[in-house]
Amino acid sequence: MRTLLVILALITVAITPPFMAAQKVELTVDVSKAGAKIDRNIFGQFAEHLGHGVYEGIWVGPGSPIPNTRGIRNDVVAALKAIKAPNVRWPGGCFADEYHWRKGIGSQRPETLNPNWGGVIEPNTFGTHEFMDFLDQIGAEAYLSVNVGSGTPQEAAEWLEYLTTAQPTALAKERAANGHPAPYKIAYLGIGNESWDCGGNMTPDYYLSQLKIYSRFVRNFNPAQQDKQRMLKIAVGPGGGEPRFTEWTEAVMKAYQNHQWSWDIDGLSLHSYTVVRWPPAYASVGFGEKEYSQILKSTLEMEGLVSKYSAMMDKYDPQKKVALAVDEWGAWYAPLPGSNPGFLVQQNSLRDAILAALNLNIFVRHADRVRMANIAQMINVLQAMILTDKEKMVLTPTYYVYKMYVPFQDATFVPVTFNAGAYTHGEITLPRVDAIAAKDRAGRLWVEITNIDPNQPVEIEVSLVGVTPKSAVGETLTASKVDGVNSFEAPNTVVPKPISAKVQGGKLALKLEPKSVTVISVEQ
Ligand code: AHR
Repeated sequence: MRTLLVILALITVAITPPFMAAQKVELTVDVSKAGAKIDRNIFGQFAEHLGHGVYEGIWVGPGSPIPNTRGIRNDVVAALKAIKAPNVRWPGGCFADEYHWRKGIGSQRPETLNPNWGGVIEPNTFGTHEFMDFLDQIGAEAYLSVNVGSGTPQEAAEWLEYLTTAQPTALAKERAANGHPAPYKIAYLGIGNESWDCGGNMTPDYYLSQLKIYSRFVRNFNPAQQDKQRMLKIAVGPGGGEPRFTEWTEAVMKAYQNHQWSWDIDGLSLHSYTVVRWPPAYASVGFGEKEYSQILKSTLEMEGLVSKYSAMMDKYDPQKKVALAVDEWGAWYAPLPGSNPGFLVQQNSLRDAILAALNLNIFVRHADRVRMANIAQMINVLQAMILTDKEKMVLTPTYYVYKMYVPFQDATFVPVTFNAGAYTHGEITLPRVDAIAAKDRAGRLWVEITNIDPNQPVEIEVSLVGVTPKSAVGETLTASKVDGVNSFEAPNTVVPKPISAKVQGGKLALKLEPKSVTVISVEQ
């Protein structure tokens, strides 16, 4: 009998799923201590002429059987409107420093090459007017990257005159003849891309002299953008934590501190991919807990980079006039087998959803300095929102995170304190949970909680200082496996599901599934 009981006990231990033992984490949300505005541009997108990011992803052409408006896919437009994409960075990336805008306007579009990304033909059918039409259709602002590497200040200055002047200049008449008499609005101007590498391998001093010239002469003439809505200029910043990037950032920020009236910048870019090592070797699908924990450990290094560069910027710009624009970030995995390696095609799993939430939370906590971020890249490339295959479209787990985070756009940061606990796999230990909170413009409180632990649920208790909650409802995103994906055949494997919290003794209580991202709004 005793032996039988021992065997039964052992069997019980063996078959009890680890998620039965929910951990408890207490969060305190102090609504009386509101912080910085969470700039909606933190949820920005990036579309480079790379693989099927633009061609097929956005542009199918007016003659396509795929439903489109003036050549732009209707399904993609509807999906991007739903996440309120605030801005799109275009045309690159490395591509931007080889892009000559004149080849992408008018009725005669020469075929050129895209040497960076597979050496394929660039048809130039998606150019300036098509990009601006796309932005208009999705309701986003333009973040234009001008060619500093192989272009000239004159070429970039003329592009901006073509786009923005209301005066009847030859360039404005050409724009009108090409279908747009009214000046366009260009909200953001990127001056070069990774100029320390693919953008021309420049030294900090050489780049600085280029930056000053482009900042001075590449002007926005739109009468509506001369004051409050003026175009913001973003300089090339660091691309990681190495000493050469410290030197680069020091040089640009020191020059900014002493800058004269004739040039100026409003942002400094930071590029940082979650890759672990180059060349990218991690699989985007078909992986287990080991790779899940390794990638998330690596992605959390973003906190150190943002803190480091924010502190350096504080030294030269204590008033935080210059934003840190994390305008390329995301997971960069090995290309999917059978794909063109130059097209950077990868699947997008629940791990990417969690990775996206962790990074967005880092940016939100630094919202006083990080006022823009652009995930790489919007469609069919790297950590995409959307995957397409001819007429088919699927929304990725990362897309759903962006959708769940819409209430955080332009909301006010509210501090959350908690003891995150720990999740350990092998030699890796990560915080068990992460959380942020914000008050939207209507005064509604939103709380996001990520349960990183892929095995254990977590019991969350939220104390709200300054608010008496009546109820809280929201959505949670998870899947049965860390590498769960949405495919064309099974598009709803990783989609948000409703969740609600109980109110107990003035606190909110809710149980979160392992490996999940949850956003709730609090009814007061
Ligand atoms: O996003 C892919 C590439 O990564 C970009 O073109 C470049 O800026 C970066 O190195």
